[in-house]
Amino acid sequence: MNTRTALLLGATGLVGGHCLDLLLADATYEAVVTLGRRPLRRSHPKLTHHVVDFDRLADAASLIEAHDVFCCLGTTMKKAGSKEAFRKVDFDYPVAAARIAAANGAEQYLLVSALGAGTRSRIFYNRVKGEVEQAIGAFAFDGVYVLRPSLITGDREEARAGEQVSAWVLKALSFVLRGPLRKYRPIEARTIARAMVAMARSQPGGLRVIESDQIPAEAE
Ligand SMILES: NC(=O)c1ccc[n+]([C@@H]2O[C@H](COP(=O)([O-])OP(=O)(O)OC[C@H]3O[C@@H](n4cnc5c(N)ncnc54)[C@H](OP(=O)(O)O)[C@@H]3O)[C@@H](O)[C@H]2O)c1
Repeated sequence: MNTRTALLLGATGLVGGHCLDLLLADATYEAVVTLGRRPLRRSHPKLTHHVVDFDRLADAASLIEAHDVFCCLGTTMKKAGSKEAFRKVDFDYPVAAARIAAANGAEQYLLVSALGAGTRSRIFYNRVKGEVEQAIGAFAFDGVYVLRPSLITGDREEARAGEQVSAWVLKALSFVLRGPLRKYRPIEARTIARAMVAMARSQPGGLRVIESDQIPAEAE
């Protein structure tokens, strides 16, 4: 089996943290490079973390080199504070990384988008997600795999009361979230990460968009 290298953006986040665990445990990956705006409290023989300025990713171009790029970056409108700041994290940074990674020969790019993503959406958040999907899909990777999760659950350090209430309500309503509504069921961060790593390993190629209810509970 040929080993591969992974570049992970967003390793300090909920989905990114699970992605990191899985990549480090996976013999397919001989090296895992993470880029973040702050140090990562983690050490592992396969892991190299770099603190970078995401507004100047071109300065870190030599670090953005791997077979597979996993992008789990993202923020919320509340945390970002403005539409411009939100767009930086959810569009500018993932696209800048994709541009450099493609130029450096990366083969696959995996992006965590969101349920409802669409360039024509009237909801700003969904529109930005649609635009980032479209922009990244245009780069010359062998495979671009976009996951569109519903509300993401898991052990978050930071309290997000709104998300917790929504998750509770959606879980309580899960018996009605069937058929076409199934995609609204909350999904565990680890399930998303497992699906990302499994897809990267199986290398289906092309542009693949995976809706929340298509993300397999057991990806391997
Ligand atoms: N949460 C949900 O229910 C939900 C639902 C659907 C889709 N999504 C999408 O799924 C993806 C992953 O979500 P998540 O809940 O795992 O995210 P998360 O836990 O909030 O993690 C986000 C990651 O992005 C990084 N980040 C945020 N702002 C940054 C900035 N200004 N500069 C550099 N890095 C920055 C964070 O770094 P720091 O640790 O340094 O902040 C962290 O590593 C995101 O794209 C999100 O939009 C989320």
